[in-house]
Amino acid sequence: MKMTVALPIGQHNIEIQRNREAWLRKPLLRDIYRRFYSQIAARIDPTISGLVVELGSGMSTIKEVIPQCITTDLFTNPWLDRQENAYQLSFADRSVSHLILFDVWHHLRYPGTALREFHRVLAPGGRLILFEPAASWTGRLVYHYFHHEPVALGEPTTWEAPASFAPGDADYYAAQGSATRHFWWGEARDRLAGWHINEVRPIASFAYLTSGGFSGPRLGGRFLDSLMRAFDNLASPFPRAFASRLMVVLQKEPA
Ligand SMILES: C[S@@+](CC[C@H](N)C(=O)[O-])C[C@H]1O[C@@H](n2cnc3c(N)ncnc32)[C@H](O)[C@@H]1O
Repeated sequence: MKMTVALPIGQHNIEIQRNREAWLRKPLLRDIYRRFYSQIAARIDPTISGLVVELGSGMSTIKEVIPQCITTDLFTNPWLDRQENAYQLSFADRSVSHLILFDVWHHLRYPGTALREFHRVLAPGGRLILFEPAASWTGRLVYHYFHHEPVALGEPTTWEAPASFAPGDADYYAAQGSATRHFWWGEARDRLAGWHINEVRPIASFAYLTSGGFSGPRLGGRFLDSLMRAFDNLASPFPRAFASRLMVVLQKEPA
């Protein structure tokens, strides 16, 4: 069984460079991601004042759909707007309207510690938008067998960092099932004081799975993509069986 082993944090940057190459090579993957970004864009409320910020932007392609988004990551790659660590953000209190984390939540070893920081920088009513793997039956199978990171549904979450933790100590951590457990299965429900859960939406995306994502082989081209999108519509009433993506929107409650 794959375990959540600790690797040096630089592993992320190795994967960012690899993903960027896949992005340039795979036009279908780009289309699929644009569709995902559009779903995120639809959850941005322009009446909330403040900055729209993505944390953990990695290869950083969200601006194609959300041009006003400030892109950030732990690593200072030239295509990013600024360097940010989720555990210690440089944004002022209440200055951010939307924080977007695309495939980043499951890399946070101490999600509760990061969540406190997100709460600090968000304006009242501001939104935290997470887009994550969904551990349905299909999701578990595919992410376990075809992705290098552990799904780790059985491993306990360490919600808060120990007192000795400094943000710069963050190592490489991955537990693909963490958003499923925390928000879909409700394990974090008692830990969300100060937040309102706006939405927890499992999404069927066989189109994404058959594209091979960034690291797997592509199973087909445009025709398969159209077929899979039709299948996604049929599969959407059965998320526990078929969802592979999870959209979570938390809203900071007014003080
Ligand atoms: C799986 S990648 C996702 C990258 C990008 N959002 C995407 O969808 O392609 C996870 C990203 O989270 C970043 N990351 C991990 N821990 C972080 C932290 N504590 N603060 C900010 N970013 C972090 C990594 O550097 C990496 O770029």
